[in-house]
Amino acid sequence: MVLDSDRKLERSGRGFLRRLLGRGGDPARRGEAVVVAFASGKGGTGKSFLTTNLAIGLHQRGLRVCVVDCDFGLGNAHLLFGANPRYSMQHLLGGQRTVGHVLMTTDYGPSLVAGGSGISSLAELNAKHMQMLARALGQIADRHDVVLLDCAAGLAPQSMITVLAAQEVVMVTNPEIAALTDAYAVIKCLSRQVERPDVRLVVNRAPDPQLGRATFDRLSDVSRRFANQPIHYLGAVPEDPAVSHRRLGQAPLLVGLPECRTTKALVGLVGALEAQILEARQAAGSRGVEARMLAQIRRW
Ligand SMILES: Nc1ncnc2c1ncn2[C@@H]1O[C@H](COP(=O)(O)OP(=O)(O)O)[C@@H](O)[C@H]1O
Ligand SMILES: [Mg+2]
Repeated sequence: MVLDSDRKLERSGRGFLRRLLGRGGDPARRGEAVVVAFASGKGGTGKSFLTTNLAIGLHQRGLRVCVVDCDFGLGNAHLLFGANPRYSMQHLLGGQRTVGHVLMTTDYGPSLVAGGSGISSLAELNAKHMQMLARALGQIADRHDVVLLDCAAGLAPQSMITVLAAQEVVMVTNPEIAALTDAYAVIKCLSRQVERPDVRLVVNRAPDPQLGRATFDRLSDVSRRFANQPIHYLGAVPEDPAVSHRRLGQAPLLVGLPECRTTKALVGLVGALEAQILEARQAAGSRGVEARMLAQIRRW
């Protein structure tokens, strides 16, 4: 049962959030979105699953959220949202369409720029494409509170440039050694950059929360000792057949199975991520995403 007082509390909570974000006041004070990159060393760790579900959770908390599928050519975020986009990154980077055309609203609230299938690999993206992406991200950031980048796995320069354009990185790993070793490789690569985003770890497909924490402790220790890079813990998500058996057209877990334990773990992550987003939003002196990305393009 939802009491009237609960509704009032929820409304005033949202008002508080909006005030914190500077919305409803002078538009010039709003600033642009906080950009969060979902990254991994190894593919298939659950970046797209987490990006889409956490985007929905942040939207439910009153934030204007956009997911940008940066896994060019292999992007599947639109499928997880059950969306059938007319235009994608392919049209944007090909210069045929503008941000206004490629930005769509999903049935679950967040906006989406789909990855597209016309770009066969990251290797086909040159500096000009990356500059176009930087400009587009700047425009998308102007219209939202949070932009979540569903990035390609690995250390390819285009993928690292995208990750480094973010203020926050959510590194998604599984507990097994191959995923952890590859996650460490990306962390080491990030540690060599002058302007580094904060790194937060999600241990996905963890058999239990204790193993999630223990996995973080091991990676955190190695990252600090050998790469001089501190990392933070965002949380663990259980291994759950409800995720892997989800069929095309079924609603994302956060909407379709709100009571299951995996959804509860996801809601915990949404709360932790929201707190980081609000903190990043208030941090003064941060350059915009376009400038950060252009600086990275020049460097690589
Ligand atoms: N917590 C989980 N439990 C079970 N299966 C999962 C879990 N997280 C992800 N998966 C499955 O793993 C596969 C890869 O996930 P995906 O989000 O596409 O990874 P990525 O975007 O990192 O390549 C998908 O089939 C997905 O359903
Ligand atoms: Mg993916």
